[in-house]
Amino acid sequence: MKYNFDAVPNRRTPNVLNKWTWYPKDVLPMWIADMDFPSPPPILDALRKQVEHGVLGYEDTPKTLLETVAARMAKLYNWDVSPDMIVVIPGVNVGYNVAARTFCTPRRGYLIQTPVYNEFHEARKKTGVPQVEAPLVKKVEGNRISYEVDFDAFARAVRKVGMFLLCSPHNPIGRVYSRMELKRMAEACIKNDVLIVSDEIHSELLLGGAEFQPMAALSREIANHTITLTSASKAFNVPGLFCGFAIIPNKKLREKYKETVIKMGLHVASPGLTAARVAYSGKCDAWLKELRKYLTTNRDFLLEYLLEFMPGIHITVPEATYLAWLDCSELKLEPSPYEFFLKKAKVGLSDGGKFGRGSKQFVRLNFGTPRRTLEQGLSRMRKALRDH
Ligand SMILES: Cc1ncc(COP(=O)(O)O)c(C=O)c1O
Repeated sequence: MKYNFDAVPNRRTPNVLNKWTWYPKDVLPMWIADMDFPSPPPILDALRKQVEHGVLGYEDTPKTLLETVAARMAKLYNWDVSPDMIVVIPGVNVGYNVAARTFCTPRRGYLIQTPVYNEFHEARKKTGVPQVEAPLVKKVEGNRISYEVDFDAFARAVRKVGMFLLCSPHNPIGRVYSRMELKRMAEACIKNDVLIVSDEIHSELLLGGAEFQPMAALSREIANHTITLTSASKAFNVPGLFCGFAIIPNKKLREKYKETVIKMGLHVASPGLTAARVAYSGKCDAWLKELRKYLTTNRDFLLEYLLEFMPGIHITVPEATYLAWLDCSELKLEPSPYEFFLKKAKVGLSDGGKFGRGSKQFVRLNFGTPRRTLEQGLSRMRKALRDH
C-alpha cells in the first residue's frame, strides 16, 4: 500500500465546526458523510499551488474542466457526454433543489424512495413543493438486511409528481442498482413524463467488485429525460469545497435549469474547481483504488463484528459508499438508538428517523475512518449494549 489510511490528522481544530467538534470531546463522531482521511496528494498539491500564487481572485469554469468531466464519464462508463451538456453547480444538494424549483409545481412535486438521504426530505421545505414517497421494501436474512424497489408502489407514486429524485448508489442502504432496475424505474418515469434527477455523488465509491451504471448512460431516450448530478466531493473527500456538475443532455431542460442557476446567482469557489479538475484528471486514481480496498475491508470488518458481538443489530451490506444502515429494532433502545448510542456509548451516529418515516429504530454509521477509530466506536457500542 502506497497510501496510509491508518494515519489521519486530528480534526479537533479550534474555531472550526466539523463533525469532530460538533459534539463534546468524549463523543466519537461517526455521522456526517465525509471521511477522516486527507484528500489525495495531487489535489492537495494543486490547492497549495493555488494558495502560494497569492491571488485568489474571481474565476470562472474553463472549458477544459468541462472536457475533463466529459472524458471521465467516457472513460468510466463509455458514456458520451459533451462538455456543453454540463452545468457547474455548488454541490449536489443545490443541484436537486434547483431542479425541484425549476421543474416541480405545487401540484406535482418530487418522488423519493425511502429510507433515503436526510437532505432529500429537506427539499420539500427548501423549495415549497410536495414530496411523494415510494418506500423501498426491506428483506431480512439472518442479521443482514437488503432493500428492493416495489415497482407497483413506484408506478402508482410516479403518476403524482413532476420529478423523480433517485439516489444511486443509494445513501443510506449502500445499494448499486442493476441496469434492469434502473431501466424499469426510467420507463415508468418516461411513460408519465416525469423528469429523472439522478444523484450519483457516491458513484466512484464502489466496494468489492461492484460496478456502477449511470442512469442516463442506459439509452438516448433516458438521457433525454435525465439530469445527472455528480461531484468529486465524496470519492476524493473534498466535500467542503462545494463543487458539482449537472449533466443535462436535453437542451431545453438544460436552458431552463441554467436560467435558475443564473437567477439564484450560484457560483463555485475556485478551490472547488481546482479539486474537481485534478480529481477527474486520473491523477488520483491509484489513491482511489487503495481507498476502495481500505473501505471494503472496513465494511467487512464491521459486518463480522456486528454478527459476532452485536447480533441483535441487523445491517445492510453496502456495495458502495462508506455508510452502513443499522436496524436496531430488535434491541428496543429508548428513546431511540441514535440517542442511546450518543448518551451511553458516546458514539455520534446519524439518526435513522431523519431518513424517513419508520426509520426511527435505525442509525447510519460512517466507516470512512481509520480501522482503529471504527474498532473504538464499535467497542463502545458493544459495551453500552452489554451494560444495558
Ligand atoms: C446522496 C447524497 N447527495 C448529496 C450529498 C451532498 O452533496 P453536496 O455536498 O455536493 O451538496 C450527499 C452528502 O452526504 C449525499 O449523500
